[in-house]
Amino acid sequence: MGVQTPDEKEISLSDRDRSALRGVVWVGGIVIATTFAYAILRYVVFGPIAAENIPLYVFNKSLAWGSLILLAISMSMGALGRLWPGLFARHVWHRKYIGIMGFFIATLHICVSVFIMGFGYFRSFFTPTIKMTFIAELSMLFGLLSWFLLLFLAVTSFPSVQNNMSRNYWLRFHHWGVYAVVLGSLHVLYGYPSWFTPESWYGGMPPITLWSFAVMFVMLAVRFLGRPKN
Ligand code: HEM
Repeated sequence: MGVQTPDEKEISLSDRDRSALRGVVWVGGIVIATTFAYAILRYVVFGPIAAENIPLYVFNKSLAWGSLILLAISMSMGALGRLWPGLFARHVWHRKYIGIMGFFIATLHICVSVFIMGFGYFRSFFTPTIKMTFIAELSMLFGLLSWFLLLFLAVTSFPSVQNNMSRNYWLRFHHWGVYAVVLGSLHVLYGYPSWFTPESWYGGMPPITLWSFAVMFVMLAVRFLGRPKN
């Protein structure tokens, strides 16, 4: 193929961006709509949370869980492409955009969490002296570490940074996305007391912390089954 004229380059970049945007809107839209519907059903319809807390408290649950799912999807696309090439191989290039969207949504989750952080919303995080419990501190530390790892991956995804790195190290760093998902799943450990009491689950629906913890195992299993065979 010859050298592209500026117009041809613009058209092919435009085609790529349209396809990337479509993928991000579809995948992100389905994930956030599903997690938001689940959160409203579990906490407002069947649970004790007032409808007035939907905009921040309940939506934040959807953002948190949705971001983790998107990051896990991004980190599983390569394996999915090897397991079911007919279905996924042509979508593998979308993983970068899905990962960046997961990072942005996780960032939004952090902003909302900081807004509403306090005894009123998160009673179980605090001791009677209004300090965080050990498990709450540990969980928040895992969340922070996960986010900083994601920030590093997002920064190294800028073409100007990526083009100045060796392919070897860039790929090596970007496999660390797996650790970000593992840390994100460990970050929900504060919820474990409710995992073993199904009789207390609102509407019989498992807590979002339990689903989020499971995300890590699903991602690891998919990556193991679809690992490259040399
Ligand atoms: C500074 C970093 C972070 C802070 C301060 C933070 C804060 C919080 C808080 C306060 C909750 C409790 C929400 C609730 O029970 O309603 C939570 C839950 C959660 N967070 Fe984070 N988070 C951080 C980073 C992350 C990251 C990077 C991810 C994803 C990779 C993530 C995913 C989740 C998930 C899946 C839940 C469970 C949602 C639920 O059960 O409601 N968080 N986080």
